[in-house]
Amino acid sequence: VFGKVSKVVCVGAGYVGGPTCAMIAHKCPHITVTVVDMNTAKIAEWNSDKLPIYEPGLDEIVFAARDRNLFFSSDIPKAIAEADLIFISVNTPTKMYGRGKGMAPDLKYVESVSRTIAQYAVGPKIVVEKSTVPVKAAESIGCILREAQKNNENLKFQVLSNPEFLAEGTAMKDLANPDRVLIGGETSPEGLQAVAELVRIYENWVPRDRIITTNTWSSELSKLVANAFLAQRISSINSISAVCEATGAEISEVAHAVGFDTRIGSKFLKASVGFGGSCFQKDVLSLVYLCESLNLPQVAEYWQGVINVNNWQRRRFADKIIAELFNTVTDKKIAIFGFAFKKNTGDTRESSAIYVIKHLMEEHAKLSIYDPKVQKSQMLNDLASVTSADDVSRLITVETDPYTAARGAHAIVVLTEWDEFVELNYTRIHDDMQHPAAIFDGRLILDQKALRDIGFRTFAIGTSPDQAYNLFGTAGY
Ligand code: UDX
Ligand code: UDX
Ligand code: ADP
Repeated sequence: VFGKVSKVVCVGAGYVGGPTCAMIAHKCPHITVTVVDMNTAKIAEWNSDKLPIYEPGLDEIVFAARDRNLFFSSDIPKAIAEADLIFISVNTPTKMYGRGKGMAPDLKYVESVSRTIAQYAVGPKIVVEKSTVPVKAAESIGCILREAQKNNENLKFQVLSNPEFLAEGTAMKDLANPDRVLIGGETSPEGLQAVAELVRIYENWVPRDRIITTNTWSSELSKLVANAFLAQRISSINSISAVCEATGAEISEVAHAVGFDTRIGSKFLKASVGFGGSCFQKDVLSLVYLCESLNLPQVAEYWQGVINVNNWQRRRFADKIIAELFNTVTDKKIAIFGFAFKKNTGDTRESSAIYVIKHLMEEHAKLSIYDPKVQKSQMLNDLASVTSADDVSRLITVETDPYTAARGAHAIVVLTEWDEFVELNYTRIHDDMQHPAAIFDGRLILDQKALRDIGFRTFAIGTSPDQAYNLFGTAGY
């Protein structure tokens, strides 16, 4: 039914669709890849010198492949009509209304793309869900497409699940050298053929033994589970960071010792001010919602704990800052270093910075924020959405360099692990601050001892109370 794939289309030119298609175009010169989006401004940016997202290595690949075998277009009907294989890579944010509010992912964009495909398709199409979706979403897409098939016997659809595991900031590396590619499909002959066609694309650069094929539901569920396990590791280590602060154990020593067990592994054990990003919270909540819907409350409660610890960690860190600044931050200038949810990205979705800053704003602190990649307007929007435009204009300033942000401040709070924060001249910074000057390291990237030698009071997540007691007395414990 399905011929050899020579035209690939991706609906959704976001963080997932853009980089993924750039990599396919780069690795498969014989395939034409067209990325479409209903947001015409975004498509214009993809066609310009300044791409709409920042990812190390992305510019080079896009600039080399663009208008050769990689195209960005707003003409969705034409692209769909011509495609052999269509990736659906639109956003699936947590629903903010109605049933499943605050928990279930919103599938309206996925459904709308399915209907568009049904409307404009001519001939057989392999439709691939790349967006992270709840288990059984492929079934809904298939149902809409089968309806179109009824009226037109030239149409043939197979729906595959092919979740993306790339992490932001390392997207190009992850895409070029993935731990695995996961493809789920039906076990019918047509389903197997569609899976084989998608395997053939990835085989251009991914070793065959790293391409896993499963049934559709296993594939959909595996994506949620992978993110839930990763998030769980962070909540696990963060929960232990609180125990460290209360006992004299050091979180980095504990993580190192525990991670040496090959059954546990050393990655993703960095204590922090909490995980952020567009995926972890959304996917864990989606899993919780799924379990509740399946009448598995014990499972739902287990995974909800991962989110609860994350929220608590953010709150705990903000409370620590307030306590150590003599229990009042009202009108005090506090410098915030980092707003992105992790380094090497300008993305702020669900960044812990938003929540820590919100807690400090509630205490009327004056925050002066510096981040090397996040736009000022983005920060202001994010903060206004959790507080008010009024509070934002009263309490927030955004600076374009860290020295200005820290000038006259009582404290520096590190919320993103940008490498450049390690290299700053902290003696110069200390001289320009109010004294006593404090540093709160929410990412464990700074040399606490060197900072104390300069004269800073320091606090870092999960560090020994010996230091903290000496510096801070017993406040907060
Ligand atoms: C464990 C630790 O592995 C060891 O490092 C520690 O020093 C003592 O506790 P042990 O209890 O002897 O060792 O056996 P282990 O192989 O860890 O299994 C513990 C239990 O977990 C068993 O009942 C085992 O069947 C179960 N298990 C283990 C699973 O159900 N699934 C798994 O994937 C692994
Ligand atoms: C994640 C998954 O890693 C990726 O496989 C999936 O496709 C999408 O979700 P991403 O959100 O881009 O990727 O970034 P990731 O590196 O996983 O970091 C998520 C958050 O966890 C960040 O806020 C990061 O700072 C935090 N984190 C990560 C920790 O706090 N400690 C760690 O040890 C690792
Ligand atoms: P992700 O991180 O999953 O890639 P993004 O929000 O970065 O999510 O990107 C999703 C993109 O999908 C957005 O650019 C949005 O405009 C686009 N999109 C959403 N719905 C549709 C649709 N029905 N047709 C075309 N594009 C869509």
